[in-house]
Amino acid sequence: MAGRLAGRIALVTGASSGLGRRFAVVMAREGAAIVAAARRKDRLDDLVKEIAEAGGRAIAVECDVTREDSVIDAFNVAEREFGLVDTVVNNAGMTHSDNAVTQSVDEFRRIMDLNVTSVWMVAREAARRLIKAGPEVSSRGRIVNIASMAARHVIPNVAAYCASKAACAHLTRSLAREWARYGVNVNALSPGYVATELTEDWLNSEGGAKTLQKTPRRRIMDAESLDEAILFLCSDDSKFVTGTDLLVDDGQSM
Ligand SMILES: NC(=O)c1ccc[n+]([C@@H]2O[C@H](COP(=O)([O-])OP(=O)(O)OC[C@H]3O[C@@H](n4cnc5c(N)ncnc54)[C@H](OP(=O)(O)O)[C@@H]3O)[C@@H](O)[C@H]2O)c1
Repeated sequence: MAGRLAGRIALVTGASSGLGRRFAVVMAREGAAIVAAARRKDRLDDLVKEIAEAGGRAIAVECDVTREDSVIDAFNVAEREFGLVDTVVNNAGMTHSDNAVTQSVDEFRRIMDLNVTSVWMVAREAARRLIKAGPEVSSRGRIVNIASMAARHVIPNVAAYCASKAACAHLTRSLAREWARYGVNVNALSPGYVATELTEDWLNSEGGAKTLQKTPRRRIMDAESLDEAILFLCSDDSKFVTGTDLLVDDGQSM
């Protein structure tokens, strides 16, 4: 399939809903072979069907990104089916409803585990394989970590989430520095509020509606609003871009 991502093999985590699902669809449309990873396999199967009907290529891989064996398996399956993964969208993530006073230690750790440790683990697995394959291959490497405007702007009452996303953004810069000499680009994409399952309850609450009314444009973004950003960061167009955190928030954090 022709397109801006033609020839790329892209693993998208958290592809079973929300932003990850949208990233997979739009990247497949631009020619990437998609390895759609998440825990809910039935949803991934629907996505694969949709991509195939549109003429694209995708496989569904049941994967819990908090488990190292599951991450390694996902890369092995991808390699068997399509070849070496050269593009990763580290999108799986979660937020929470408890504030810092009511939150348990276990819940705090769960957030950090998924939003930080797993991002590192998936990026590490991709980079290990790319570096081993040699410079010609590794120089095509693109790793995009989905952070948030919460990485640089405090969203009230979700301290663990904000801390995890700030860690994700700085992890991105650190990995970008470490792997720069291999040509592997590592960038973050930081969305503002987008309507997905993650934000649904909050947006329907009084507090959510009030917060949105305080944003400059008084509106939420839709998943399509990130299409150009993800394609740029995953494509050859961003050859000279690494270690950046691209904020696409419709001005919500101003
Ligand atoms: N929506 C927003 O306003 C917004 C704004 C800024 C940043 N973000 C970030 O964007 C990313 C996607 O969020 P979203 O809004 O699309 O949320 P979502 O609809 O809740 O999607 C989260 C995805 O993560 C996957 N996931 C959760 N735990 C997992 C695990 N252990 N292993 C594998 N996959 C797992 C889920 O799939 P399964 O349950 O099937 O595993 C799901 O597909 C997150 O990192 C989020 O922090 C979102």
